[in-house]
Amino acid sequence: MNTHTTRLTLTRPDDWHLHLRDGAALRSVLPDTARRFARAIIMPNLRPPVVTTAQAADYRARILTALPDALTGQFEPLMTLYLTDTTTPDEITRARESGIVQAIKLYPAGATTHSDAGVTDMTRCGAALAQMEKLDLPLLVHGEVTDPTVDIFDREKIFIDRVLIPLQQRFPGLRIVFEHITTREAVEFVQSSPGRIAATITPHHLMLNRNALFAGGLRPHHYCLPVLKREVHRQALIQAATSGHARFFLGTDSAPHPVSGKESACGCAGIYSAHAAIEFYAEVFEQAGKLDRLEAFASVHGADFYGLPRNTTTISLIRQNWPLPQQLAFGEETLIPLGAGQEAHWKLVED
Ligand code: NCD
Ligand code: ZN
Repeated sequence: MNTHTTRLTLTRPDDWHLHLRDGAALRSVLPDTARRFARAIIMPNLRPPVVTTAQAADYRARILTALPDALTGQFEPLMTLYLTDTTTPDEITRARESGIVQAIKLYPAGATTHSDAGVTDMTRCGAALAQMEKLDLPLLVHGEVTDPTVDIFDREKIFIDRVLIPLQQRFPGLRIVFEHITTREAVEFVQSSPGRIAATITPHHLMLNRNALFAGGLRPHHYCLPVLKREVHRQALIQAATSGHARFFLGTDSAPHPVSGKESACGCAGIYSAHAAIEFYAEVFEQAGKLDRLEAFASVHGADFYGLPRNTTTISLIRQNWPLPQQLAFGEETLIPLGAGQEAHWKLVED
């Protein structure tokens, strides 16, 4: 592909990390993802969290019901369970046998939005982790320590030494996805680890560094967890995503919150990117001169790592400037999406 590419056709991509919420909010955001992606790994951090296979099956049914008619049959939600101190090996077995649960999510308690039910101590969930290792059910980790004495910009780097390395030593066969990585240290860790650990990378961590949080004033819509990092880290993420390395793949972490939750004295963490997710990635890959590597990152590496079939349909993008929306409906409220009011340079061809 050269710099004059004007149309890009890709195997339909998958989003390996997505927050869809529930109810009216779910109905508002789901079409944005389903128009672009064939499948998505659905985060279980609802209130209350999705902790059993039965709850995951119900949530999956609500997602499928929320799909508009035009998109029915085009999108498959891949469910996850929320790991807690009390998750049993039997629940892991049920999850694996269900065929609808593809992974288990570890949130260190208190690390992020709706994570208060998360794991308080890794020694508490040993039996569940051993069963996941045995049945080859992947563990997805929110990779930040929650120790309040650790500087927020160091929480991912320190998680590697304090939690991830001991976890790998204890369960060498466990398949792990280090979610939404944000640092050079995380990139290097995944590159230098043996084959059972991969990482997802978000569009916002590829597009923005931490200056975006304070550009001319406090920018709550750029606040997410893990928090945006320095430019050197953004560069390391771009390098990793566009390198062709099979253990880096697309995961938007699109995490919608109403304006009222973001523009607050204590604003929620989360950036909404589903309205133009693949378009954002295309722009990053193009700027890096690596548009030819987008398909592997977006449509191949994730499926291969999860041991799922690659998609057989395609999507097309054309090079065209279009204004990103200033705001979007979100249930009864509104949300401010990534890039609000700016221009996107790639556009999805709707068929
Ligand atoms: C996510 C959310 O809002 O659910 N927020 C975020 O900033 N990414 C939670 C998460 O994935 O950490
Ligand atoms: Zn997330």
